[in-house]
Amino acid sequence: MSAEYQVHGSVAVITLNNPPVNGLGHATRSAAVQGMQQALADDAVKAIVITGAGKAFSGGADIKEFNSPKALAEPSLHSLIRTVEESTKPVVAAIHTVCMGGGLELALGCNYRVAMPGAQIALPEVKLGLLPGAGGTQRLPRVLGLEMALNMIVSGTPVASEKLANTAIFDVVFAADANLLESALAFASKVADARPLPTVRERKVDYPNHEAFLQFSRNTVKAMSGPFPAPLECVECVAASVSMKFEDGLKFERERFLKLIQTSESKSLRHAFFSERQASKVPDVPADTPTRAIKKAAVIGAGTMGGGIAMNFANAGIPVTILEMKAEALEKGLATIRKNYENTLKKGKLTQEKFDQRVALISGTMNYEEIGDADIVVEAVFEDMGVKEAVFRKLDQVMKQGAILASNTSTLDVDQIAAFTARPQDVIGTHFFSPANVMKLLEIVRGKATGKDVLATTLALSKKLKKTGVVSGVCDGFIGNRMIEQYSRQAGFLLEEGCLPEQVDKAVEKFGFAMGPFRMGDLAGNDIGWYIRKRRYVESPEITYSKTADLLCEMGRYGQKTGGGWYDYKAGDRKAYPNEEVNAMIVKHSQDIGVVRRKISDQEIVERLVYALVNEGAQILEEGIAMRASDIDMVYLTGYGFPLHRGGPMFYADTVGLPNVLGTIERLARGRHGEAWKPAPLLVKLAAEGKGFNA
Ligand code: NAI
Repeated sequence: MSAEYQVHGSVAVITLNNPPVNGLGHATRSAAVQGMQQALADDAVKAIVITGAGKAFSGGADIKEFNSPKALAEPSLHSLIRTVEESTKPVVAAIHTVCMGGGLELALGCNYRVAMPGAQIALPEVKLGLLPGAGGTQRLPRVLGLEMALNMIVSGTPVASEKLANTAIFDVVFAADANLLESALAFASKVADARPLPTVRERKVDYPNHEAFLQFSRNTVKAMSGPFPAPLECVECVAASVSMKFEDGLKFERERFLKLIQTSESKSLRHAFFSERQASKVPDVPADTPTRAIKKAAVIGAGTMGGGIAMNFANAGIPVTILEMKAEALEKGLATIRKNYENTLKKGKLTQEKFDQRVALISGTMNYEEIGDADIVVEAVFEDMGVKEAVFRKLDQVMKQGAILASNTSTLDVDQIAAFTARPQDVIGTHFFSPANVMKLLEIVRGKATGKDVLATTLALSKKLKKTGVVSGVCDGFIGNRMIEQYSRQAGFLLEEGCLPEQVDKAVEKFGFAMGPFRMGDLAGNDIGWYIRKRRYVESPEITYSKTADLLCEMGRYGQKTGGGWYDYKAGDRKAYPNEEVNAMIVKHSQDIGVVRRKISDQEIVERLVYALVNEGAQILEEGIAMRASDIDMVYLTGYGFPLHRGGPMFYADTVGLPNVLGTIERLARGRHGEAWKPAPLLVKLAAEGKGFNA
């Protein structure tokens, strides 16, 4: 049963009951319609209350049914709302905790709405690239007025019920200590005989000079919504609530909704939404796997990453001690953390109270004995196996039994690191991204011996730290950096063949990346890639690279930290200015290696960079380094600035069609540096079967 029916005196109560948030799935809608019919047929019933069991009135559409035919099957949400709105007996929505999306649309179809304070009221559809498609854009302006309704619909942001107490959305907001059901029953009895029954649809949207306001809104929303069409469509629907008759407005809203649901932007947002939920699930680690309590943390190394990682713990209320070898490095690291928090405080994004709390949670030490009782220790020392070995041998000696020993290594073998200890089951990789206190991605590297409870604990911790945790197997570079290496290789070859950094970056940024490869290199430090290539030249001489980036580093141009890299930078300005000398070096290098430079189209640039990611992603998927294609997409959306409206590299490849992607890759494999384009067997297989990575 997904809605219960009871009669209290002369009032029927329909209680939506579909945990966790009473999503309006097919069974719930059917049961609610049945309840309405039963109440209407029963002469003893004079009024009807609709409410929700447990932790919500209703959170809206049932995400379990998303993308399934059940979502639209009759009775649809429209039909349910119509049944409620056309009721000959008064219907009262009794709202508490969460009333969102379709839940709010249902409530707006009722004759009356009563609410507890603290209920979250929202139409969040825009966040999935959609608009409220069951009358929300027509009814909300009729109770909240044009401006407030438009803001809520375009932003999707929840508003607390008590803040709306003075609007027509609620007939009553009860006191915090009231009993909702009793109060709603009393209210329903009071209005049982009131006729005519009020409906939201009969109200007029009140806003003087609405045209000017709507035009202003169109301009602002257009400027702010980037590639996403939904926010502007929301404005158009709200505009229709003023200019059209109610039924026509509903039809207009429906058309726009059906159009949006087909857009690749909305499909990408929905893909990202579901991928994020999927990422935390590991098939052989069931949801009830016991986890270890994380009440105290330690970080080894107070450098760029160590400081940011420590801030994550403090932000989550977990006390953290940072260990360094030298007092000077410790002082410097702690001062940087403090400075970071001070900047946030100055910008008004942190209260003084929170600032004090967080700073107090972070301490420093040079003595291993002082961190022995931490529940987790994250190592963030130099990327050198010898240094990691010394640290992990020491940790094995000092850390209490059951502590999780994590490494932030970005390339080294986590299994080898685990073998430095007598407790490899407690060792795991936690690969944060820079700046670690900002970036959402946390690659969780599961070693051969990593315990299931350690993995489950780390996944749970990633949520607590507000990160998107994605599990990767052990390989050089894990998911993200292993793929980016192929992308960078192509960027290098493009320079040799005719591009300058600016053209490549602009093409990729136009595609939607936050930053092109060369601006990204300047930000992260070009010396990091140089260091890795130097290792490859010895270990894997068969892998080809353009030497351009090495030449740049030989010029001492490591990036922003040395005042310039591929570009020049000016103080207090993050803009990249092309550098004549660098560009001359690039052109000369082409001559030196005998390559005739040609004009390269933006399309070729984007294809080569993005398909390099896709092909390596397919390889990673086949090897089982990533559990699913959507995990790879999450890595790229949350850690590498891949355009959200394109859903991640693997999803994007599906959109283009794998046979098309493969065709391009096969063509590139016949061209210059074709050795970089060996098609991944999984790509070949899926393309032949007419399938996608995310099927
Ligand atoms: P860093 O050079 O800024 O900081 C390393 C810190 O570790 C220094 O403060 C150093 O004094 C300290 N340290 C060195 N040996 C130590 C020891 N035996 N005991 C205690 N402290 C010691 O380096 P960064 O960039 O923070 O990198 C740290 C780790 O994080 C490396 O494994 C790196 O590959 C990884 N990483 C770096 C990223 C980045 O963008 N910088 C991104 C993701 C991972």
